[in-house]
Amino acid sequence: MAYPLEPDPDQLKELGESAVRLIADFTRGLPDAPASNMEPGLEVAARYRGPVPEQGESDVARLMEEIATASAVGADTAGPGYLAYIPGGGLYSAAIADFLACGFNRFVNVWEIAPAFAQIEATVIRWLADLFDLPETAGGILTSGGSMANFSAIVTARRTKLPEDFGAGTLYVSEQTHASVAKSAVLAGFPRANIRAVATTLDLRIDLDALTSLIREDRRSGKRPFLLVANAGTTNTGAVDPISDLAALARTEDLWLHVDGAYGGFFQLTERGRTKFDGIAAADSITLDPHKGMFLPYGTGCLLVRDRVRLREAHHVQAEYLQDLAPEAEIPNFTEYSPELSRDFRGLRVWLPIKLHGLGAFRDALNEKLDLTRYLYEGLRDTPGFELPWEPELTVVAFRQGERAEGDQRRLLERINASKRVFLSSTTIAGRFILRACVVSHRTHRDRIEEALGIIRAAALAAG
Ligand SMILES: Cc1ncc(COP(=O)(O)O)c(C=O)c1O
Repeated sequence: MAYPLEPDPDQLKELGESAVRLIADFTRGLPDAPASNMEPGLEVAARYRGPVPEQGESDVARLMEEIATASAVGADTAGPGYLAYIPGGGLYSAAIADFLACGFNRFVNVWEIAPAFAQIEATVIRWLADLFDLPETAGGILTSGGSMANFSAIVTARRTKLPEDFGAGTLYVSEQTHASVAKSAVLAGFPRANIRAVATTLDLRIDLDALTSLIREDRRSGKRPFLLVANAGTTNTGAVDPISDLAALARTEDLWLHVDGAYGGFFQLTERGRTKFDGIAAADSITLDPHKGMFLPYGTGCLLVRDRVRLREAHHVQAEYLQDLAPEAEIPNFTEYSPELSRDFRGLRVWLPIKLHGLGAFRDALNEKLDLTRYLYEGLRDTPGFELPWEPELTVVAFRQGERAEGDQRRLLERINASKRVFLSSTTIAGRFILRACVVSHRTHRDRIEEALGIIRAAALAAG
């Protein structure tokens, strides 16, 4: 009897080959594909409602077509024109790693069940810890993204620095810190009032004097300052906080220093990034997002912790039904360091691209992004009518049409995105509407940035 849930080897190959063909065609078409296709989004999405099928579909090509149609609406986050929010791209080698990981379907969160695969993940974490010169005591976890990494960092800092009754604990972020930090603090049980958003200086870095006064004031009023969050690249503009000064303050005030490098962290691979992140080796924990700075598919974040024992103390809870499992040896039982038990094998998604392309390929790509950003920034800065309030520290160009109302800035963004060759997003800083272009995708090269510059200039001219 044939089991429909277990196709024979020929069917397996046919299914796999049709998926590979689909992605190869999709990738080949990316340079010419529209950067966004928002209008038909809801109408196309509606086609994917309907009753659950009792019988399976035998026409694989039709199913592939259905998936391809779904991918053709919205913003093309995989394409070279995607400059909105924080891009990432999505390396094909990582998609293959995911296919392999799911195909083998081994369980890596306890080492004994798949020791060599668990070691691959541990090795990846060691490589990343080495990138930041963290000591041998360091460890970490691969998470679904930066938000979950920030969450585990806050829980670890709370557990390390505060008593069980932690209601007086206060944490310090800047006004430019990503909202996932505040969200994590709330999820970790802190009242919103205990999340202190410190003002920034004009360059959008945390104001050290304001921070120091606030910490001392809080102590005087009976609060328990315990955590300081530094940005290694803010989402809005890529601003980098003065990390070594913050490290010194954290030492003096006995605070946990967490660095949110979800967007910027991988620029540590470049000389320019390394210089900006001076002092980061003193961090107690660092959030990274390989699905941004390493161009991996969504679903790959990372938390590095200087002393992995702290991470384990914050997350480990015993369970009787896991009593057969070997205690951790040289390889960690990752589940003891994270909120998750069952999960995907994320390590292969990081390991295979690094093995296949070499770290140098990532370094070169990130240097290219820094150069492209400079090119775009200078091009806009030298064009009359544009205002660029901040020189990019990493790869975000923030701009607006000078002396114009918010409605005009919105229309400028709409006109730029209507080109369908690039897709940008906006933000609000100090009450002002700001357009931003973030250059991170591995598929964005000089030709697209030259085109972007032309499109932005033409859109501004059209405004009169
Ligand atoms: C600085 C920063 N931190 C945290 C996050 C959250 O990361 P994720 O979207 O992977 O959860 C982001 C996302 O853009 C970010 O830019």
